[in-house]
Amino acid sequence: MAPCRYLIAPVMLLEVENLSFRHPGGGGVGPLGFTLAPAEACLLLGPSGSGKSTLLQLVAGLLTPETGTILLDGEPMHALGPAARDDLRRRTTAIVFQSLRLVSAISVHANLALARRLAGLPPDPGRIARLLERLGLAPLAGRLPRALSQGEAQRAALARALVTEPRLLLADEPTSALDDAQATAAATLLLDAAREAGAALLVVTHDARLKPLFGRALVLGADGRLAEDAAT
Ligand SMILES: Nc1ncnc2c1ncn2[C@@H]1O[C@H](COP(=O)(O)OP(=O)(O)OP(=O)(O)O)[C@@H](O)[C@H]1O
Ligand SMILES: [Mg+2]
Repeated sequence: MAPCRYLIAPVMLLEVENLSFRHPGGGGVGPLGFTLAPAEACLLLGPSGSGKSTLLQLVAGLLTPETGTILLDGEPMHALGPAARDDLRRRTTAIVFQSLRLVSAISVHANLALARRLAGLPPDPGRIARLLERLGLAPLAGRLPRALSQGEAQRAALARALVTEPRLLLADEPTSALDDAQATAAATLLLDAAREAGAALLVVTHDARLKPLFGRALVLGADGRLAEDAAT
């Protein structure tokens, strides 16, 4: 009898195989493959234009791959229609975009409450208060995003991602605009917050300063291929 893979939890949270995508104009990523275990933290390094943001959008189901498979928590993201893909992403994944994308017209607290609602989760003021406290944002909860410093806004975007209780946290260039001390602090915060939440973390960046902070690093070459970094 053939084994039923959905009776037991998949060993890997994310399994990517032979994945490729080309934008109009020829830029893109792959073919490549990698896996991420539940609660594992991984850095993905690559030069500008190598396809890091494209890869993140593929994993999040925001782009449809040309070839290959993406299994997220055992579900085939690559084979789902748009609505089912949105649903899988909402249930499993949060993204911290480089441009942060906080909703500018509402407060930090309201941004977090809205994120929970959009993720289909019930209101949880206690969780929001604890997260804001944990990230040093409690005194800023009532502020609009434009009244935050860059570092504060980054922490607010991280809080908004974590408030959706993701199993996979994706971050695109979370530190490239920061000085050395700020970059270390921001990456450490990401790592600690993901570990405390039990979420896997995939950070894509060209910021090689982060390598010593991560137990595992993958390197995306200019040819669109991926290799484990031997030094980590
Ligand atoms: N919307 C788009 N339309 C056409 N080409 C695109 C688009 N987005 C990205 N590209 C191209 O695809 C390639 C990969 O882009 P991508 O943004 O994924 O790279 P990246 O590694 O994230 O770069 P950076 O470090 O500068 O953010 C580049 O050649 C880029 O010009
Ligand atoms: Mg990018």
